[in-house]
Amino acid sequence: MDIKTEKRSNFTGKLGFVLAAAGSAVGLGNIWRFPYLAAKYGGGIFLITYIVLALTFGFCLMIAEIAIGRKTGLSAIGAFKKISKKFAFIGWIVSIIPMIILPYYSVIGGWVTKYMVAFVTGQGHAAAADGYFEAFITKAGEPILWFTIFIGITALVVMLGVVKGIERVSKIMMPVLVVLSVFIAIYVMFIDGAWAGVIYYIKPDFSKFSFMTVVSAMGQLFYSMSLAMGIMITYGSYMKKDVNLEKSVHNIEIFDTGIAFFAGLMIIPAVFAFSGGNEEALGKGPSLMFITLPKVFNTMFGGQVIGALFFILVLFAALTSSVSLMETVISIIQDKVKIGRKKLCLIVLLGCILVGLPSSLGYGVWGGVKILGLQFLDFFDFISNSILMPIAAFLICIFIGFVVKPSFVTDEIELNGKFKMKKMFNAMVKYIAPVCLIVILVFAILDVFGILTI
Ligand code: PHE
Repeated sequence: MDIKTEKRSNFTGKLGFVLAAAGSAVGLGNIWRFPYLAAKYGGGIFLITYIVLALTFGFCLMIAEIAIGRKTGLSAIGAFKKISKKFAFIGWIVSIIPMIILPYYSVIGGWVTKYMVAFVTGQGHAAAADGYFEAFITKAGEPILWFTIFIGITALVVMLGVVKGIERVSKIMMPVLVVLSVFIAIYVMFIDGAWAGVIYYIKPDFSKFSFMTVVSAMGQLFYSMSLAMGIMITYGSYMKKDVNLEKSVHNIEIFDTGIAFFAGLMIIPAVFAFSGGNEEALGKGPSLMFITLPKVFNTMFGGQVIGALFFILVLFAALTSSVSLMETVISIIQDKVKIGRKKLCLIVLLGCILVGLPSSLGYGVWGGVKILGLQFLDFFDFISNSILMPIAAFLICIFIGFVVKPSFVTDEIELNGKFKMKKMFNAMVKYIAPVCLIVILVFAILDVFGILTI
């Protein structure tokens, strides 16, 4: 198939591309979501499952998406439509996902904003007290206020078109976040009682393996690497032809997984040190980081300043991700409806606030309302990560494996030298991934309906 490449502004070189894609990939997924899943689903066994999936499946899906973007020079919807009219619907499925994620992502972004302000204004000690998070989250107005502030800043960045500026700042901030995370992780290791947590996190205990380990690790992979939602296709469309795709993807993966790894190493041992590392403490879910980290900073010399710095950095990482989500949502709508960018930003902002409200209230006032036994936020998280993304990934694999054929992607990759993992790629997109994705999807559905407890 001959696809003409349109002219698009490009990233400068490999580093520019890697950093921009990493800006979207590195965010709350790494720092907030990864540690609580690893804590809940068996520690070391989750970690190893995640790494294996990242190196095999995650690698293949990411390189495929970026290659499709670069080859067509278009974003998801345009790209699929251009390649095959019949399969244009994949672009649509893929595009719904950021619309579901953005509102609840911003609810968590609001929690981070609240903690950032608390530390900056000298209330870090108070934040370390038992029940602080609980008291915050069970209020109706406050979480909504912070959520609105976070999504408001995101919309403002997009509206004013200062995305480039934010990305520039984040390029400086991200390496600082890496260094700080490593430092905090090392500090935590030496807290009394933390070592058991290090072992729990690093050493796989195969008796803790269950299908939910794989389901959750796979969902996390999509989420953290911004996969199966068309974002990497868009990033690929801006990538220059002379940049080595395989190496770039390796770099993004190492960066993304490295930050997640250290976030886990910061949080999980601290759960053992401060909350005893029992099942209840480890199973806290979305609140885990907020309950645990202030306690770490509270025991640290200069902890209030370090805590403030940490939350500022996390907020920036979250903002670069939420901005990339909102940009995607806006460009999808703009392709279809002719409407001014500013006006559209406002509409998307309002829409997000409305859709995000139940997620914000769900952890407090609406705690009793459940869908399929899940709170709103967990429900949106589940629908996007465990249902829609596996479906989207399955369709993408089938599309590449059997419709356009893997050479459509591998030819593009080989424009810059040999594709070392070509054999694995072919087997993965054609057979392994589709089969695994269907199995995972079925198990996720059985689990949520309580038909099978795995
Ligand atoms: N990957 C981001 C994170 O880990 C979340 C995200 C998903 C951002 C999709 C943009 C697009 O936080």
